[in-house]
Amino acid sequence: MSAIAFQDYPDYESLSEAASEHLLTLVQCKPDAVICVATGATPLLTYQRFVDKVKAYGIDISGVTFVKLDEWVGLAPDNPATCEVFLQQHLLKPLGVAPERYIAFASDKADQHECNRVTRDIAARGGLDLCVLGIGKNGHLGLNEPDDWLEPGCHITSLDERTRMHDMLRAAGTSVEQGITLGLQDMLAAKDVLLLVAGEGKQQAFSAMKEGKVSTKVPASFLWLHPKTSCLYCTM
Ligand code: PGA
Repeated sequence: MSAIAFQDYPDYESLSEAASEHLLTLVQCKPDAVICVATGATPLLTYQRFVDKVKAYGIDISGVTFVKLDEWVGLAPDNPATCEVFLQQHLLKPLGVAPERYIAFASDKADQHECNRVTRDIAARGGLDLCVLGIGKNGHLGLNEPDDWLEPGCHITSLDERTRMHDMLRAAGTSVEQGITLGLQDMLAAKDVLLLVAGEGKQQAFSAMKEGKVSTKVPASFLWLHPKTSCLYCTM
């Protein structure tokens, strides 16, 4: 059965608080959880609160594996616009995640081998327990961009015009044309999906997604095919 449980929050803080609790519950119930993590402004406070709670409660997360959802192609790994720097700064370093507990695309050698390697590494850990996602202003999930057709697995993608102007890139004064991303098939195979919707300019994409129909023009709508998605959103 497909189902998306929508939960409306009055502000970004309360949404982030609830999302951090979702993550916390998982790592407490499943100490060897495999968690795919999105980057960007939306999940930032969720990760900060999650890190604070893990430290405050002394939770052992040494068995948890984190998976980077996507990455811009062609940037040096230490470029501040990368998803890599975001995750290292806000999640991995503060939590002291060991390199062997982190599965990630390299930004500077993105190719089909890299897609295959990441796919294999996720499967070797038993698949994703949770996929934390945001929605793009164009309705994308990860870097699965709206198109006439979509590639199901991990792939390299040509970025939509709106994604090329993403705040992460603009803030670093960088321009990128391609991305590397887990595919919708990978997300739909996750046991649990947490979709966070916050920030300016998401209204149109979110409304289209909420219609309950599946369209390749709104990649987030594919979550209607997932059996257990929680969508936390700020009132818009
Ligand atoms: P944001 O990005 O969280 O920075 O708004 C979401 C996205 O583009 O997928």
